[in-house]
Amino acid sequence: MAGLLDPLKVKGLTLKNRIVMSPMHTGFATTEGAVTENLVTHYVRRSKALGLLIVEHSYVSLEGKLSERQVGIYDDSLVSGLEKLSSSVHATGTPIVIQINHAGRVV
Ligand SMILES: Cc1cc2nc3c(=O)[nH]c(=O)nc-3n(C[C@H](O)[C@H](O)[C@H](O)COP(=O)(O)O)c2cc1C
Repeated sequence: MAGLLDPLKVKGLTLKNRIVMSPMHTGFATTEGAVTENLVTHYVRRSKALGLLIVEHSYVSLEGKLSERQVGIYDDSLVSGLEKLSSSVHATGTPIVIQINHAGRVV
């Protein structure tokens, strides 16, 4: 039987182990939802030990925002920060995905 630290092949992707970080809101984005140095540092520190990292819930439109410093994925101006986050995590050998979210009628 495979162990927690054994690699896992998922279609074309090989995870270095079977530890997956679930999406957890940090409140480390800017008030516009942009990625910050603090956010990158937070995820890079954790990614080293992971097979797969899932970035916290990220709002896909301004109307769907849930909290003040939530990560945004609603505008092209946010792409460069998100690219920096993904390339920094990739540099640790860990794949990264992001949870997209719309808070519905909450706002
Ligand atoms: C501080 C904190 C933030 C969280 N943020 C999210 C989130 O952004 N998206 C989400 O789907 N779940 C979020 N969760 C839930 C976690 O991803 C996870 O499902 C939950 O802690 C239960 O984990 P467990 O099933 O391993 O016990 C959050 C949990 C915590 C403690």
